[in-house]
Amino acid sequence: MALRIPPAKVFFPEEDRKAILGHIDEALATGQLTLGRHVRAFEEEFAAATGSSHAVAVNSGTSSIEIALRVFGVEGRDVLVPTNTFFATPAAVVHAGGRPRFVDADPSTFSVSLEALKRRLTPETAGVIVVHIAGIVTPEMYAIRDFCKARGLFLFEDAAHAQGCGFGGRAAGTFGDAASFSFYPTKVMTSAEGGMIVTNDERLRDEAVVYRDQGKADFHTNAHTRMGYNWRMSEPHAIIGRSQLARLEDFVAARQRVARVYDEGLRGVEGITPLLLPEGCRSNYYKYIALLGPGIDRKALKQVLREEYGVGLSGEVYEQPCHLQPVFAPYAAGAFPEAEDICARHVCLPVYANMTDEEARYVVSSLAGALGRLSEGAEVKKAALRERSRV
Ligand SMILES: Cc1ncc(COP(=O)(O)O)c(C=O)c1O
Repeated sequence: MALRIPPAKVFFPEEDRKAILGHIDEALATGQLTLGRHVRAFEEEFAAATGSSHAVAVNSGTSSIEIALRVFGVEGRDVLVPTNTFFATPAAVVHAGGRPRFVDADPSTFSVSLEALKRRLTPETAGVIVVHIAGIVTPEMYAIRDFCKARGLFLFEDAAHAQGCGFGGRAAGTFGDAASFSFYPTKVMTSAEGGMIVTNDERLRDEAVVYRDQGKADFHTNAHTRMGYNWRMSEPHAIIGRSQLARLEDFVAARQRVARVYDEGLRGVEGITPLLLPEGCRSNYYKYIALLGPGIDRKALKQVLREEYGVGLSGEVYEQPCHLQPVFAPYAAGAFPEAEDICARHVCLPVYANMTDEEARYVVSSLAGALGRLSEGAEVKKAALRERSRV
């Protein structure tokens, strides 16, 4: 085994770790530990990075979705949500008092198409959530935005995967009425835990600030005017997030370089087809998605790669669509064949900001070796079956 490749890796250059510790030390000394100057600076810097007028920092990607939905007012109403997303997207709808109504996937982007959204529209629909799976912004965002506007529906982007992404020169998070980001450690940039709401709508910003701090009308009074919660971001989290945000462009460029090695290298490998980006899409390659050929056992492939080549494939996006998750059974009605198909047969190759070209090429050659082994095994099995049926 030549190399060991983990599925993902957080990257803090040494100088960043030192600077972070220095700022945290300062926060400890002053006692300004939450919703302080670093949170405000993180908000300003993140808003500028996405080209949004406002950003509100919170303690997770999940809470950033729920807060926005509470502001939209989804109680007792339907919200169209892709079935191919993480649990947190539909769960936030339920927590905000709404009903997730699942939408089938578009296999060309792993997101949703306008046609699929239209098919699921009801008179009770309050709005639409689009999730930029793996950092891919669907070219249909403009058409989806126009559709939502014409129908008076809110459009919300769950951009948990999409820091630094965009389409046609427009940043992810700026297509709809508001968007959420996650800074969980597996993400392209992290604040350890954390999330951000971005919006151009001042009222939405003001409401989000109230919700995030126990629904208090303002920081200094004790009047609670909304059913908020403790969704605050602490100063140490903001310090880590600011440091990573300053590296975001470099991280994205490094991940794009790895993706180019995969795009090229996988051309010659049978049994696996990369999901190529739509023209005009800028991805951060939060995940590098590739589809397996018919009959290839994903579990077996992952096992061979891990045990014999030292290559870890990361979690899928997603292994199972939400309508098949037991907890969402009350919302599972409908047919979602495309989502079921892509969820069952894709893999996500390792990508991280300090991955070398050599490591990426090693992943490609390991995949070629492992897929070859698996198909040889399948051939041997088939031959044995043929032999048995003859006797
Ligand atoms: C699509 C999507 N939405 C929401 C979240 C929730 O983010 P967090 O873990 O920061 O709460 C995640 C996190 O993995 C996600 O992938």
